[in-house]
Amino acid sequence: MSLTRRRLLTGALGLGVTHAAAPLTRRAGARPRFTGSPFTLGVASGYPSSSGVVLWTRLAPMPLQPGGGMPPEVVGVEWEVATDERMGTVVQRGTAAATPEWAHAVHVEVDGLEPGRWYWYRFRAGGEASAIARTRTAPAAGAAIERLRFAYASCQQYEHGYYGAYHRMLADDLDLVVHLGDYVYESSWGRDHVRTHGAPEPHTLEDYRIRHALYKTDADLQAAHAACPWIAVWDDHEVDNDYADDRSQHAHPREWFLARRAAAYRAYYEHMPLRRQMVPLGPHMRLYSRVPFGSLVQFHLLDGRQFRSHQPCASAGRGGATIADEACAERRDPRLSLLGEVQERWLEAGLERSRARWNVLAQQSIMAQVDRKPGPERGFWTDSWDGYPAARRRLLDHLESRKPSNPVVIGGDVHAFWVTDLKPDFDDARSPVVATEIVGTSITSQGWRQEVLDAQRADNPHVRFADGTRRGYVRVEVTPRQWRADLRTMRTVTQPRAECDTLATFVVDDGRPGAVRA
Ligand SMILES: [Fe+2]
Repeated sequence: MSLTRRRLLTGALGLGVTHAAAPLTRRAGARPRFTGSPFTLGVASGYPSSSGVVLWTRLAPMPLQPGGGMPPEVVGVEWEVATDERMGTVVQRGTAAATPEWAHAVHVEVDGLEPGRWYWYRFRAGGEASAIARTRTAPAAGAAIERLRFAYASCQQYEHGYYGAYHRMLADDLDLVVHLGDYVYESSWGRDHVRTHGAPEPHTLEDYRIRHALYKTDADLQAAHAACPWIAVWDDHEVDNDYADDRSQHAHPREWFLARRAAAYRAYYEHMPLRRQMVPLGPHMRLYSRVPFGSLVQFHLLDGRQFRSHQPCASAGRGGATIADEACAERRDPRLSLLGEVQERWLEAGLERSRARWNVLAQQSIMAQVDRKPGPERGFWTDSWDGYPAARRRLLDHLESRKPSNPVVIGGDVHAFWVTDLKPDFDDARSPVVATEIVGTSITSQGWRQEVLDAQRADNPHVRFADGTRRGYVRVEVTPRQWRADLRTMRTVTQPRAECDTLATFVVDDGRPGAVRA
């Protein structure tokens, strides 16, 4: 990006780029007085490695006010990590700078911890202490581990329901939570809201900060963050519905949209336990990454928004998605990419190098082809991988020819459970199954009438299961021999903390792609 453009974008939002160099000078001796506890947004940890983890909090005594109710000054935040839940044996401590430029968010990258064990942590600032929370390091590189338990979640429109799914996860004995996008929603939509955003669509940095703060005030979401480390990738609603790289669905002027994207990315960074390498620069943020768990699992976390080609065959003067029929030749253009060329190569190289038993492609949407038009006509939703069939074919061909160990694709976005067989050619019954796909339903976002999904089944024989009527998450237990996924469903999300059931369980055996209902 040219310096002129960077100046324009950062200037437009009043941003600085001095995060890493934020001075600690004003903390010494200062005891800032807050109007209440500054830890209203909770604490979180994320991106565990075998020697450390990222610890996060943000000081915001009045979280829904501009600036979070903080004075516009640098505040020292003490942190400590212990080996017990009472913080009796502290093994590391330090002080981090919370700066107004970064909304008084703190990201501490702790290193020098032992692999594969639980730790507890807390923060202090201005005489106030946060709650004590729990986190876990990843196993040593290449270590043979017996199992990993994690949950994955996506699509948590705040107005559509309560986060009882996160409350139920607390009983699941999880090592990790994986979030696959739509962590916040920019827009209000749907029916029968149980609570309100209380504000119109965000556009500025302050708007997005307040939107993230609103979501983070939810006690059940905070509790899930405090229970174990998270890893996360975003989808469209963290910025704007159906955006693709620099193109919004309303085809706003490019520079205007990139300034909005910069604000949204920055607020996302400020509110998630992300690594230093993910610090955004203007509208750019390197979110895709790999997270290994010993020799058992390698997560390949993908960003399907920032680098994607514009959706094909959008209506005149618009961006965003459509149902494209066979007449849309642009859809089959091999130059279209969902991940962008650099990330495509990065993913292939990572799969090539991986020695993990299970390779998890953690991404936003549904990867399988889904013909959405019942009967002989065909129609494909261009915001999912169906908008980019040549890129999907490149990836699935790579899986077929290079045979990385047990690829499993997990996704969200569609507010429904979908269990599919991934094949290089979905139209050829003899095309081999090269990977397993299990898409999780939404935490709260409203879904589909089941008749609609049922009507699509006959045209899509590689789909093993589809249910759009329920909200929930997927709970996974992975061992060297088997992947076991419980599709967890809330009885309702319009009441807080409803009961949760297992709708169905699918297993994948080592070396045999394709999930089988248990
Ligand atoms: Fe969504």
